Amino acid sequence: MKICVLPGDGIGVEIIAEAVRVLDALKSDGLKMEMEYAELGGCAVDSTGSPYPEATQKLAREADAVLLGAVGGPKWDVLPRPQRPERGLLGIRKDLNLFANLRPAVLYPELANASSLKPEIVSGLDILIVRELTGDIYFGEPRGIAVEDGKRVGRNTMIYNEDEIRRIGHVAFKSAQKRNKKLCSVDKMNVLETTQLWRDVMIEVAKDYPDVELSHMLVDNAAMQLVRAPKQFDVVVTGNMFGDILSDEASMLTGSIGMLPSASLDQNNKGMYEPCHGSAPDIAGKGVANPLATILSAAMMLRYSGNNEAAAVRIENAVKKVLAAGLRTGDIWEEGTKRVGTREMGDAVIAAL
Ligand code: IPM
Ligand code: MG
Repeated sequence: MKICVLPGDGIGVEIIAEAVRVLDALKSDGLKMEMEYAELGGCAVDSTGSPYPEATQKLAREADAVLLGAVGGPKWDVLPRPQRPERGLLGIRKDLNLFANLRPAVLYPELANASSLKPEIVSGLDILIVRELTGDIYFGEPRGIAVEDGKRVGRNTMIYNEDEIRRIGHVAFKSAQKRNKKLCSVDKMNVLETTQLWRDVMIEVAKDYPDVELSHMLVDNAAMQLVRAPKQFDVVVTGNMFGDILSDEASMLTGSIGMLPSASLDQNNKGMYEPCHGSAPDIAGKGVANPLATILSAAMMLRYSGNNEAAAVRIENAVKKVLAAGLRTGDIWEEGTKRVGTREMGDAVIAAL
C-alpha cells in the first residue's frame, strides 16, 4: 500500500505522529506499506501559497490512501477564501472524488461516563453516519457575496443531481446490509426541493435492497432524536451540510470528538482517513491531544483501502485494551483514571498491539 501522509496544522502534527508509529509497529510485523509526507492546509499556504499545492495533488492522486491529521487555525482565517486551509480540505475531497464519508459513532463502554448524556441513553451506542461529501451547498454554484441594488447579498446554492444521490444511497444501503439492516435517510423535504429529490431517489434505490428497512426523518427531528434516543439509529444517510452538523452532534454522544475516526471513499474504495475533530489550535504543541481518533482512522484505512480486516481489528482491540487499562487523555479523563499525554497514549497502544 502506498500512503500519502498529511499531518496538516495544529494538533494534526502530533496525532499523525502517533498513528504513523502504530503503522510502523505493524510494518515491523510484516505489513507492507510505504508512507510519504506532503503538506495540506495552513502549512501548505505558508510554504507554497496554496492550501492544496501541486506536489500534494500528485502524491495524493498516486497513493492508495491518504492519512490526514487536521487543517486550519486562526492564523489563516484572515486570508482570502481560496487560500484558507479549509479550501485545501474541500479541494482534496473533490479532486479525489471522495463522495462517501463514513463517520461511525461508537461508545466504548469505559467511556459511558464521559458522555454528557445519561449512561443508559448512550450505553452500547453504535451508529454510522454516511455523509455525502462532494456536493450540496458546499460546492453549489452560484455562490459568493456581491453588491446588488446597493446592498451586500450572500448566496449559496443547495444542489444535488439524482446520480449523486443514488451513488451515496448505494453506499449507505450496502453499509446497512453489513450491520443491522436499518437505514434512516435525513432530509428537509417539507421545505427544500433538493431534499425532496433526495427522498425520492432513496426510495428508488431501496428497491435494490429489500432486506434493508428504510425510514425517513426531517433533519430538525433527527437532531432532536439523536440526543433523545440515539440508539434507535443504525445507519444514517444524509447530504453534505446536514451530515456535517449531525456528525458533530453524534460524536458527543460517545464522550469526545477526540475518539471518532472517519473514512472518505471514492467509487473504488480509495480513501482519505482523518479524525472527525479539527486542528484544536488552543492545545496544539502541548502534547495533550487525544491521538485515538487518528489511530482509529488508520485502522479504517487498513480495512477499506487495504482490505486488511485483521490488521484493522488488531488496532481497534489495542485501543480498547488501553481504555480498559484506564489510560485517558484530558478530553476523556475522569476521576479514577490515569491522565496521559499524546505520546504516552501512542506508546500504550503500540504496547497493546
Ligand atoms: C468536517 C469539517 C469540515 C467540513 C470543515 C473543516 C471544512 O467540519 O470534516 O466535518 O465542514 O466538512
Ligand atoms: Mg464538521
